[in-house]
Amino acid sequence: MNPAPNLVLVGPMGSGKSSIGRRLAERFGLAFLDADREIEAQAGASIATIFECAGEADFRAREQVVLAGLLAGEGAVIATGGGAVLDARTRSLLRERGFVVHLHVDVPQQLVRMARDRSRPLLASEDREQVLRRLAEVRDPLYAEIADLRFDTAAMSAVDTAVKLGHLLDARWQLATPATGTHP
Ligand code: S3P
Repeated sequence: MNPAPNLVLVGPMGSGKSSIGRRLAERFGLAFLDADREIEAQAGASIATIFECAGEADFRAREQVVLAGLLAGEGAVIATGGGAVLDARTRSLLRERGFVVHLHVDVPQQLVRMARDRSRPLLASEDREQVLRRLAEVRDPLYAEIADLRFDTAAMSAVDTAVKLGHLLDARWQLATPATGTHP
């Protein structure tokens, strides 16, 4: 049993972090926080607009600040963006402040799930498959580095994944309250 003050979902685009996170939050009676939505709220602009007007580096800086803020709290299920793990400070904070679940999905399945998606700037390319493979090459080791649990979502629906993952988490993760804190 691994106590941590938050449950955090990491993994590539299309792995279901938001839809599964929302369901897990409901199951555990916790707040659900979506880092991408929080970045948009704070910027007053969509992620696509931030990328277009200010560039990816600006988006990454905002992502780091927003996640540091969300992770300072406790008792939440937090969905991160696929590239959040690129930042070393964020990786340390995720490990310190969360039980980290890596939701895995392979590239062919990502392509199916996001076939109609036009909201993700990194997918605005002719060759989505190549982009996703390149991202996976860089990021998979980073997800693995910080994950307490890896879960393959394969062809499972968000509902089924949340149910299975919920059962696994019952045995693996305990919400750390100040009394049971991770830093005695
Ligand atoms: C990104 C993933 C997106 C979003 C942004 C960049 C990435 O989040 O943060 O478009 O670098 O993989 P999702 O993983 O929720 O799609």
